[in-house]
Amino acid sequence: MSRRPFICGNWKMHTGRREAVELAREVAGGLDSVRDVDVAVAPPHPWLVEVARALEGGSVRVSAQNCHNEEKGAFTGEVSTAMLKEAGCSYVIVGHSERRAQFGEDDIFVGRKVRSVLAAGLSPILCVGETLEEREAGRTVDVVERQVKGGLADVDQVKLPTVTIAYEPVWAIGTGKTATPGQAQEVHLAIRDLLRSIGGNDAAGAMRIQYGGSVKADNAANLLSQPDVDGALVGGASLAAESFIAIVRAAAG
Ligand code: PGA
Repeated sequence: MSRRPFICGNWKMHTGRREAVELAREVAGGLDSVRDVDVAVAPPHPWLVEVARALEGGSVRVSAQNCHNEEKGAFTGEVSTAMLKEAGCSYVIVGHSERRAQFGEDDIFVGRKVRSVLAAGLSPILCVGETLEEREAGRTVDVVERQVKGGLADVDQVKLPTVTIAYEPVWAIGTGKTATPGQAQEVHLAIRDLLRSIGGNDAAGAMRIQYGGSVKADNAANLLSQPDVDGALVGGASLAAESFIAIVRAAAG
């Protein structure tokens, strides 16, 4: 089954207000002629509304970088999926390794968030990936499978095709060390097999698996040429319109 490539730029805790809107406009402007690729940008929460407004009417969508699973209540500092939807988001990144490592998010919490994103009618980008230590101990597939199972626990089967998995080896994030296309494909294939056992052939065939971790304009085409690499979650290289656009163009083939 052919899947439409999906490229998302994760701006993390970068950009000021004006810079965010300008970057979004530049990305949209540079992608006018690009078809057949789904594209999203994930600005920090305070800029979501303005970025969504700047992108209105075009094909570039907005993603949040995080959410809380509860609908509302006494959760100081947190943001619900209904709020993100109203702010103009289509996607929410869930379980990024920076949140798992620095904010103590475990598979149970990540799974709750995925269900909340889906309940709001948004599409989750569920991040998984092993640390260097786990890779060296030969535990990559075990770790990633545990994270995928936890993230997709109790997800309504009919909603599975709207979930994107982002495989991001922790040792490759922000380090300039990219997984080789072969290393990425090996893990993506293991994830695809697991998705088949969770949701059946059709869901597994429809779900996009992005690669993330030092994706740049010059390595994107090779990574994206792998049969189970359906897109990219891009950090650093998404902060400059030129490199992000080049990555999207690589996905367009
Ligand atoms: P990077 O980040 O492209 O800067 O390595 C990727 C990510 O964390 O999503």
